[in-house]
Amino acid sequence: MRIILLGPPGAGKGTQSRTITKKLGIPHISTGDILRQASSQKTPLGLKAKNYMDRGHLVPDDLMINLIKERIKREDCKKGFLLDGFPRTIPQAEALEKISHIDKVIKLRIESEVAVERLSGRRTCKDCGAMYHVIYISPKREGICDKCGGELIIREDDRKEAILERLEVYREETRPLIKYYEKKGLLVIIDGGRAKQEVTGDLLASI
Ligand code: AP5
Repeated sequence: MRIILLGPPGAGKGTQSRTITKKLGIPHISTGDILRQASSQKTPLGLKAKNYMDRGHLVPDDLMINLIKERIKREDCKKGFLLDGFPRTIPQAEALEKISHIDKVIKLRIESEVAVERLSGRRTCKDCGAMYHVIYISPKREGICDKCGGELIIREDDRKEAILERLEVYREETRPLIKYYEKKGLLVIIDGGRAKQEVTGDLLASI
């Protein structure tokens, strides 16, 4: 199964992807995670991407398309994959269509106010990338990841100005993909504003 998970920043794409790919036994390909790792390792891609990411802007299409082309060529993608954060523009979707068939596109819908509240309270594990929320999904010990014991940090792009910029970029650049995939008959929309387990249940049912 080849799945795209779409939705605005804070919709819960990362949180849900981690759970459902474990159940489905397919790789979770998060372009945001790949870029953040490249940036912390100061690779040429990471150094280029960091400036865009910290300001809440999109990394140029050519870099992203090459990254995905290389990633989905790998052996673990033969039985399927879940893309989280790609495509984000029409040129990215068109490029993806040339390199892979897609079975389903799922959009997680949430209101902007919910997105802002979720992102402002997000805490991310510095080591394993697990996500928490200061109110809704809190770790057992404050500031410490339940899964690996790593330190929980606030992402650079989870500052208020960067959050608002990311939501604006989503409306301008990514929202057109909803019509694009609707016309192809691939789109399913799920209410992402509910409790985590309810959303997971609907996602699994739709897949
Ligand atoms: P990326 O990492 O993809 O960020 P994003 O799309 O902005 O999404 P987020 O990670 O912010 O939100 P999410 O939907 O995953 O929500 P989460 O599960 O964390 O991209 C970052 C940057 O990389 C981009 O801005 C861009 O610069 C660059 N980039 C990446 N891909 C690119 C591409 N293809 N092209 C160009 N540039 C690209 O949840 C958020 C919070 O809510 C957490 O605290 C979580 O614990 C909490 N939460 C989750 N679900 C629930 C729930 N049901 N109830 C209550 N709280 C919940």
